[in-house]
Amino acid sequence: MANPKRHLVTCALPYANGPLHIGHIAGCFLPSDIYVRHLKQLGKDVLFVCGTDEHGVPITLKAKKEGVTPQDVVDKNYDIIKASLETWGIEFDNFSRTSRPIHHETAKDFFKTLYDKGVFAEETTEQFYDAEANQFLADRYIVGECPNCGFDNAYGDQCENCGRTLSPNELINPKSALTGNKPVKKETKNWFLPLDKLQDEFLNDWVATKKDVWKPHVYGQCMSWLNDGLKPRAMTRDLDWGVPVPIDGAEGKVMYVWFDAPIGYISATKEINEDWETWWKDPESELTHFLGKDNIVFHTIIFPAMLKSHGEFNLPQYVPANEFLNLEGQKLSTSRNHAVWLHEYLEDFPGKEDELRYVLTSIMPESKDSDFSWVDFQARVNNELVAILGNWINRVMVLTHKFCDGIVPSNNDQVDQSVIEEADALIAKVNSMVEEFKFRDGLSDLMNLARLGNKYLQDTAPWHAIKEDNGQQRVEQILNVSLRLASKFAESCGAFLPHTASKLKHMLNTNDAGLMAGKSVEKPTLLFAKIEDEEIQKQKEKLEAQSASNEPEKTFEPIKPTITFDDFSKLDLRVGTIVEATKVPKADKLLNLLVDIGLEKRTILSGIAEHFSPEDLVGKQAVVVTNLAPRKMRGVESNGMLLMAENLEGKLVFVAPVEGIEPGSIVR
Ligand code: 2FM
Ligand code: ZN
Repeated sequence: MANPKRHLVTCALPYANGPLHIGHIAGCFLPSDIYVRHLKQLGKDVLFVCGTDEHGVPITLKAKKEGVTPQDVVDKNYDIIKASLETWGIEFDNFSRTSRPIHHETAKDFFKTLYDKGVFAEETTEQFYDAEANQFLADRYIVGECPNCGFDNAYGDQCENCGRTLSPNELINPKSALTGNKPVKKETKNWFLPLDKLQDEFLNDWVATKKDVWKPHVYGQCMSWLNDGLKPRAMTRDLDWGVPVPIDGAEGKVMYVWFDAPIGYISATKEINEDWETWWKDPESELTHFLGKDNIVFHTIIFPAMLKSHGEFNLPQYVPANEFLNLEGQKLSTSRNHAVWLHEYLEDFPGKEDELRYVLTSIMPESKDSDFSWVDFQARVNNELVAILGNWINRVMVLTHKFCDGIVPSNNDQVDQSVIEEADALIAKVNSMVEEFKFRDGLSDLMNLARLGNKYLQDTAPWHAIKEDNGQQRVEQILNVSLRLASKFAESCGAFLPHTASKLKHMLNTNDAGLMAGKSVEKPTLLFAKIEDEEIQKQKEKLEAQSASNEPEKTFEPIKPTITFDDFSKLDLRVGTIVEATKVPKADKLLNLLVDIGLEKRTILSGIAEHFSPEDLVGKQAVVVTNLAPRKMRGVESNGMLLMAENLEGKLVFVAPVEGIEPGSIVR
């Protein structure tokens, strides 16, 4: 829409199973907040909603681990998350919760509407069940190997390694996340969203219209889903934590968390706005979803399919998803505590909210994964915020006090207008970058405005000019221009650096009426302070301690149930020599191996690509299970398995390294 009447902006609801870390922030909180602040600054009608996602298996698993109720878990984390976002300066119009009654009602109405319209396919199917835990194993209650990339700890709903959405049936060697048991199958009835049908009916055509609207990686991921062909997806679960399914015959069942969570955007709107329907249904309202890349399919396919099936709602116009942020070269991980937690940052660096906003925007993973490191954080703060921006503003303020008694001088002849024009051109660029979701470029253009201000002072050198004829008049012109540049900076940095914007406006006294000649400015105070080496050292040590304290938690898997000698002798184990090794396209973990087992050469796909490079493997020997049923992955049939050990750091190593043994030798 060229110029919508109103903008409804959502930020993905974080699971209330832990606090927020910098990955969540760089993924969606920060970009959405910048975008919204920008629109509000332009005077647009905007509504910005979020809240915590309080259902789903991550919450119940966490509660079980801590020996508390799911409600305890979400209550505690809601408070931490909400407070940290407020302190940091993320300004939602509503930050709600999916455990609130208004959400349950809204989700039930939505479900009921789809049900009454006959949208769902009702099916009794066999689902995985853990007899010991007496529970169906939906979503993250079940783990196993990813059929797409070979990752060995994929969840029943998604592989966190390759991002692919899964169903429990697709997992290879599935295990219960509750007991580690091999699950059995048990019949149960569920309600499915017929995504296959909806794909033909509208998704294919609708997504095609987004080709040049969505970022390439968002559109690409979405197309790869469609190209693979969508399958019906169950929207109900046999669990006891979630929104109850509001239809007869579904007692004891709750909605799939990904059914109710996005409806959370609707209930968060409803909670604060009687006119919520205008925001969601009026064709002149524009819907934009911010999220991380693991949420793309839910916002570009599943939620739109739900909205469309309902019939009255707008579909998202923009889905500016970000990729992932890493920390010191490694994946951020809540479970391994490899993270910088927002609430801890705010405690450790009080008053330095904008420093983190600045650095995370500079490295935002907009089109590819990026990395946060403490040394880089320090360098960006010291060399950019302190040395360029802070220094410029300080010089302008000090000079205004020195030469003009702290009063904004006038410049009646409009001298040096070209610098002002240059500044306006930069600001126009900042604005258009933000509107195109290119926040990194926007911030860098904003900093070019500070560079321009510095250069202007350097070129005009008021400290020399004062000594020339008519020196005072010339210096007043220079400082008038400089203060106007500073005031323009204050106006346009609000979306990126809101705390700095208010400090600066206060310093320049521009809060109500803008900059006016004759008005006084405040005494200069520093906008930013240098980050010292010791502070960085402390953070690095803290991170190391976090990972170290996490290590003892590493548990040994229990010994499996006893088998008979006959069971054992069913295994056919032989020594094999790897004769060829190649990468499997688009599968990060898989290698395609040709293995000489004496009798013949076999193709074996092995999930070891992250541990070995293909060239290092040729010539290596390993024990091969040769009578394992063949399995097709990525269109290639794998015939057997290489035995490897996974050490306590999760690294794969060859076991009982064999060398120089005749391929085909039997292992007994
Ligand atoms: O991935 C997550 O953290 C989910 N809780 C995001 C939900 S977004 C929305 F649909 F609610
Ligand atoms: Zn995978």
